[in-house]
Amino acid sequence: MESIKAQRIPYSGIRTVFDMAKKMESKGQTIIHLEIGKPDFDTPAHIVEAAVEALRAGKHHYSQNAGIPELRQAITDKYAEEYQLEYSPKSDVVVTNGVAEGVYVAIHALLDPGDQILIPDPRWVNYDVDAISNDVEPVDYTLYEDRNYQPDPDDIADKITPKTRMILLASPSNPTGGVNSLAVLEKIAQLAQEHDLVILSDEIYEKIIYPPAEHVTIASLEGMKERTLILNGLSKFYSMTGWRLGYVLGEEKYLNPILRYHQYMVTSTNTFAQWGAVTALKGDQGPAYAMVEEFCRRRDYIYEAINQIPGFSSAEPQGAFYLFPSVKETGMDGYQMSKMLLEKASVATVPGEYFGKNGAGHIRISYANSLENLKAAVANIKACIG
Ligand SMILES: Cc1ncc(COP(=O)(O)O)c(C=O)c1O
Repeated sequence: MESIKAQRIPYSGIRTVFDMAKKMESKGQTIIHLEIGKPDFDTPAHIVEAAVEALRAGKHHYSQNAGIPELRQAITDKYAEEYQLEYSPKSDVVVTNGVAEGVYVAIHALLDPGDQILIPDPRWVNYDVDAISNDVEPVDYTLYEDRNYQPDPDDIADKITPKTRMILLASPSNPTGGVNSLAVLEKIAQLAQEHDLVILSDEIYEKIIYPPAEHVTIASLEGMKERTLILNGLSKFYSMTGWRLGYVLGEEKYLNPILRYHQYMVTSTNTFAQWGAVTALKGDQGPAYAMVEEFCRRRDYIYEAINQIPGFSSAEPQGAFYLFPSVKETGMDGYQMSKMLLEKASVATVPGEYFGKNGAGHIRISYANSLENLKAAVANIKACIG
């Protein structure tokens, strides 16, 4: 049995590659995993300790629907300190099961069937599926490869119709590694104000960014706090993907319906994990920054190395941990290349086609893997491509 809505929801392409790779491994083959978007580091020990301590201290029960007050306070403190943005921990933040839930509840609690949401292409796969599952129409805007995957605000303006309600921004971006510039954000902010649109800003890779690129939250631009929802979380910077903690931050008029949706969907997030998250946000940031430095070294390596392979060409990622090279000059599409690399080079990547129309002819390489494995992967790819 399957609902009409469920029939529109595809199985995640990334998981498909992962499952194929696992099958090959079960037959004894060694696969280098460059398909999965999660840091290859464990959560820093002091964060783990805080969660274990919380368990020992009896934090075994449901928390407030919006999250424990201490975590909400830590989140709003972060935005006050880092961006001079004042949010109320009582009414302006909901702790979610990752940004994955944040995107879902924001689209379901704020938009109606028939509304349109503008989303980047290429993009993380959840945005359009979350829209479609609420009968909201996702409308793509292009991220331009030759501009290091920046959007063009004029394109976005052309796509705005009377049905447009929201613009989704994702910077730094999965799968491209692109970072929206201040100039582009300023123009998008102007459009949002002219057309009375809400911005949904996925900032999960906020801190995984490589100088000189800098993260700017569009909420900090004049007149934008009141029309922006920030989606962020602990998964990437603190390597806490399995803890399932994220948050939505914005004004009460948006957070109130989001909280109502969230409380029936999940009640609250894991209580002792939230205590770990307080320590993540308030405690030693050293291990997390050390991880980002390591990602930067890997970025430098993989960007150079992949661009030397005949038929591959990639923009330089400014953030996140993905390289998104075009493989069009090899004559293959992303599916063909990804399949060949898995079967003949024992390297798992994701076909760019999974990330939208503009992903065609690309593959996504996650460099959240050791430098040693990245070097082995490049050697295998070179041998395979010839
Ligand atoms: C752009 C983007 N947003 C959100 C997420 C998911 O984050 P979370 O683990 O907080 O659900 C991912 C995971 O890959 C991502 O790439």
